[in-house]
Amino acid sequence: MGHYGDLQTQIYQDGLRGVLPDYPVDFATLEKRAENALSPSLLNYVQGGCGDEHTQRSNASAFHHWGMVPRMLVDCTSRDLSVDLLGMTLPSPIFMAPIGVNGEITQDQRGDIAAAEASAMTGVPFCASTLSNSPLEEVANATGSVPAFFQLYTPKNPDLAESLIRRAEAADYKALVITLDTWVTGWRPRDLNASNFPQLRGKVLENYFSDPVFRATLARPPEEDIAAAVQAWATTFGKVLTWSDIEWFRSITRLPIILKGICHPDDARRAADHGVDAIYCSNHGGRQANGGIAAIDMLSDVVNAAGEMPTLFDSGVRSGSDVIKALALGAKAVGIGRPYAYGLAIGGAKGAAHVLRSILAEADLLMAVNGYPTVEALVEEGASRI
Ligand code: FNR
Repeated sequence: MGHYGDLQTQIYQDGLRGVLPDYPVDFATLEKRAENALSPSLLNYVQGGCGDEHTQRSNASAFHHWGMVPRMLVDCTSRDLSVDLLGMTLPSPIFMAPIGVNGEITQDQRGDIAAAEASAMTGVPFCASTLSNSPLEEVANATGSVPAFFQLYTPKNPDLAESLIRRAEAADYKALVITLDTWVTGWRPRDLNASNFPQLRGKVLENYFSDPVFRATLARPPEEDIAAAVQAWATTFGKVLTWSDIEWFRSITRLPIILKGICHPDDARRAADHGVDAIYCSNHGGRQANGGIAAIDMLSDVVNAAGEMPTLFDSGVRSGSDVIKALALGAKAVGIGRPYAYGLAIGGAKGAAHVLRSILAEADLLMAVNGYPTVEALVEEGASRI
């Protein structure tokens, strides 16, 4: 049986023929390459965060104060990174976090499709954002047979919210990820200093522009009056959700519901009480609130409070060893965000697929060297605070 870590052998073998990897395998080099590939405004939008960006830096650096104790004399010649999530068996424990400007990141502005193709190429599920340059149906189609999730930014117009959810069901998305922390945009100095907010420039709004309910609210279609369509979008974006809304979501969809942005154990318990299917511990990569606490430091309390309910995680994951630490702290599946976006920037679907494969290879080899043959074994071992 092949292992994700076999990528390493392949790279060294290719090197013997004088062939070097097209894309870097580490985050620092990847980010540098992406800095050269993206326009300044888009780079600011993807790379930047809230306030002085302390939280987003902490998200990544906090992984350094978690560690894994190696175990020896364990046969790890065969490793299994598969996980069970919401009735699905996924071949690996990672997924692609929703990124609302994927569409803009590739030169052809079809980056949502490229991201979906990277998912199809790697078997890593893609969580498609509401903010997209391609309609959610086309995105789902490009993921092939790999399960995909749909991330909802809940509009104020309930008919539009329902329409988006119905479309996600019809397109065979396997879960509805409801983002809780973004009814209003956080204070992002890089974007403010450049006065750049892509949505207000008519970007990444195709899911709205293609929606019959949204279109019915317009005097003239977006193709004829983009300014009015953007204004209508701005008016409906960002319903303030409270716990009572969760029953409404439950009442209208059969899709498993995942609440994204849960960082407090009490909120995790409340989510369980409301019968949601999973929670997603994330501080939006430090883009929304500069609250100062790294997401990984909040994970294990959230997992403990969630009990049987699975907890997904993202924010600051930059490598395979970060993935392993998040799993050891109880995450059921780990979201990759900016790294795959940078992969899209430097190599489209192939670039993003390479980033995902490199992360999985490092995770697999850490398990091989440290003596954890399965995800269960490393969860049992746990991560230590250094
Ligand atoms: C995001 N994120 C995000 N989340 C979401 O629920 N819907 C969205 O449309 C977006 N859009 C988005 C755009 C960009 C440019 C970034 C970087 C992030 C947040 C994303 O899903 C995830 O929580 C973070 O990316 C995790 O942080 P890191 O690991 O990427 O730093």
